[in-house]
Amino acid sequence: MSVADLPKIELHLHHEGAAPPAFIRQLAHEKRVDLSGIFKPDGTYDFRDFAHFLKVYEAACEVLKSPEDFRRLTLAILEESAENGVVYSETFLSPDFCGGGDVQAWRDYVNAIRDAADEAERKFDITLRGVVTCVRHFGPERAKDAARCAAETAGDWITGFGMGGNETVGRQADFAWSFDCAREAGLRLTTHAGEFGGPDSVREAVRALGVERIGHGVRAIEDPDLVHELVDRGITLEVCPGSNVALGLFPGFAEHPIAKLRDSGVGVTVSTDDPPFFHTTLRREYEMLHKAFGWQAEDFAAINETALNAAFCDEDTRARAK
Ligand code: ADE
Ligand code: ZN
Repeated sequence: MSVADLPKIELHLHHEGAAPPAFIRQLAHEKRVDLSGIFKPDGTYDFRDFAHFLKVYEAACEVLKSPEDFRRLTLAILEESAENGVVYSETFLSPDFCGGGDVQAWRDYVNAIRDAADEAERKFDITLRGVVTCVRHFGPERAKDAARCAAETAGDWITGFGMGGNETVGRQADFAWSFDCAREAGLRLTTHAGEFGGPDSVREAVRALGVERIGHGVRAIEDPDLVHELVDRGITLEVCPGSNVALGLFPGFAEHPIAKLRDSGVGVTVSTDDPPFFHTTLRREYEMLHKAFGWQAEDFAAINETALNAAFCDEDTRARAK
C-alpha cells in the first residue's frame, strides 16, 4: 500500500477555506454575485501573497450566507476529505462568517453543519468535530463575540476554540479574554502562531493564551530554547507544509522544518489548512513528505497517533477513529 492510501487524521482545516472554487462559483451564480475577480482563467483561486489570500478568502465568504449554504459546503468538504483517506477531521468554524457573531444565528449554522456532518459520517465514514475560531485581524472585540458563541455551543461536537487570521496584526495576548472565556466553557484551545509571526508569537501563544496546540508553529525552529519548551509542555503542532510552501514561507517541502521539529521531539501532525487554495489534499501532503524526507507507513502511523492523542474529542470518538 502506498503511504498516500493510509487512513488519516486532520486537525487543521478552515471550513470556508476548504470550499472548492466550483462550489463558490455555483453559489455566486445562484445568488447573482459577481466574484469573477477572485478566480484565475483556469477556475482556481487567484491570490498574490498572504494578505491578498485573506482578501480573496473573505470575498468567497460573501456567497456563504445561510445555514443551508454551510450544510451543502460541509457535505462537499467531507466527501472530498473521505476520498483522500481522512477518517477524523476537525474544522475551524467562524461565527464572523456564520451569522456575524450573533448567538442565535450561530446556533442555526452549527445545527446545519452538524446535521450535514452526521449525514457524511453515515455516507462516507468520516467523523467531524468543530473548533470555533475568531479572526485576529477583525480585532479583540469581535473575538469576544466569537468566544461567547463558542461558549454557548460548547459540548460534544463543538469541542475547541482558536484563532486564525493575520498574525502580523496585534498580539496574541490581546485575545486573552476570549481564550479564558472559551476555557471556562470547557473548550480545548489552539491558535495560529509561528506562521507569519516569529518564535515570540509562539511563546506568547503558549504563555498568555494557554493553548495546548499551535496552528503551524513552524517558525519555532528559529529558536532552540522554544523548541525545548514546546517539547517540555507537550504542545502539538498542526503543521500544514503545502500551505506554508504555497504562501512562500519555505521554497519547497525539502526545506520545510517539519522533519527537524519532529526529530527534536516536538509533537507534529499534518494538515492541509485551505486545500483548494493551496492546490493540495491530505493525500498529496503525505506523498510530498514521503518524497522529501523518505517517511514511510510507520512514520505516518506515528504522526496519526500524535494527532489522535491531541484531537479535541472524547475517548469514545478517539477509539473509533483508531
Ligand atoms: N485563515 C485561513 N487560512 C489561514 C492561514 N493559513 N493563516 C491564518 N489564517 C488563516
Ligand atoms: Zn490555518
